[in-house]
Amino acid sequence: MTTAADTSPEELRERMVRGLVERGAIVSSSVEAAFRAVPRHRFAPEVPAEQVYGAPEAIFTKRADDGRAVSSVTAPWLHARMLEAARPTPGMRVLEIGSGGCNAALLAEIVGPTGAVTSLDIDPDITGRARRLLGETGYERVRIRTGDGALPLTEAPDGGWDRIVVTTGSADLPDAWFDQLAPDGRLIVPLRFRGLARTLAFVREEGHLRSDASIVSGFLAMQGRSAHAPRTIELAGDDVRLVVDENQPCDEPALQQAFSTHSHETWTGVRLNGSEGLLPRLDVWLAGSLAPYGRLRASGVAAERGLVGWVLGTGAATVWNGSSLAYLALRQAPEQHDHFELGVISHGPDRHRLGDSLADAVVRWDRTARRTGDPVVRAYRRNDAEQPDGVVIEKPSARLTVT
Ligand SMILES: C[S@@+](CC[C@H](N)C(=O)[O-])C[C@H]1O[C@@H](n2cnc3c(N)ncnc32)[C@H](O)[C@@H]1O
Repeated sequence: MTTAADTSPEELRERMVRGLVERGAIVSSSVEAAFRAVPRHRFAPEVPAEQVYGAPEAIFTKRADDGRAVSSVTAPWLHARMLEAARPTPGMRVLEIGSGGCNAALLAEIVGPTGAVTSLDIDPDITGRARRLLGETGYERVRIRTGDGALPLTEAPDGGWDRIVVTTGSADLPDAWFDQLAPDGRLIVPLRFRGLARTLAFVREEGHLRSDASIVSGFLAMQGRSAHAPRTIELAGDDVRLVVDENQPCDEPALQQAFSTHSHETWTGVRLNGSEGLLPRLDVWLAGSLAPYGRLRASGVAAERGLVGWVLGTGAATVWNGSSLAYLALRQAPEQHDHFELGVISHGPDRHRLGDSLADAVVRWDRTARRTGDPVVRAYRRNDAEQPDGVVIEKPSARLTVT
């Protein structure tokens, strides 16, 4: 019998590429060729090649003193999907924010000898390591720089970067990214807003940016000037938490009190098939339609103890006011076992009205937005004259809307 340990890195890589193509993570021939060419295992030499090529998730390469991961080699499926969203072509000038070596090598393969890749990381240990690994694998042409990716890079090309690929989770869109993106450039960024994490591809539209691709994905948090920790409210100790943006009004004791009282359920009649993948779209659409909006997260223990309804590990869309809160929950659709039904569980003195308003929003989404694909996120600079209408998600340097 042949074990994974007997299999060469080249065979393991081929197997990984075939899997990524079959699953639709790799679509274009340029990304496929880059994945075949780059020896991924040499960018995580601390772990066995079979783990590097078999890993569905990131491989952590540096941890802080408290054990928190601060750097990693991103998962292959996510590298692939981000490259597909970035659409780099030969000759382009690309800035990668957050280094590791592997993604920069993939980009260098695609832009070729007439293009240029610069990779920037805030951590000198990471840039030192990336420079060494890229040198050892023949990609010394990638330029490595140490600095904060939220700030402008003085060596940006005239006319801006054709692609800016951010590989660290950002809660902001700093001015530097608006300023240093070419007019027809694409900015790929793992954005955090309202307790959600989506990697979005942005293009310019008039004076602002508009998303045209979205990937559900978590990333290690950005450090430096744009570092950000969301506010977490413990509704039932650590087992049930509400994650909200810092600038959203939230009366913590009032919500804790509300959560400890009776709940009310409102079922919407809106059904989803588990394989449609529509819930992540609904979550973003609701974040752009309702304010305030956050995410309720519950541990397995909370579910076992009946503290919450059926909510997924990624959390549940939640709205609140000064006295009450309401969150989205699921139940098996009656008489249709491959579907589930969306409903709302609400607590507090205003639970009926608040529950109805969230349920109404779900019904509105079902009627108007369910079939329109990924919600579009628009990003406006905070200081621009052009300012959006409707529900606005405030970020330190930008304003977001979702339609
Ligand atoms: C997920 S890792 C990068 C993965 C890498 N691109 C790869 O090839 O797989 C995220 C990196 O972002 C870096 N980082 C965090 N905040 C940053 C900032 N403000 N500017 C530049 N790099 C930053 C971290 O040091 C970390 O090395």
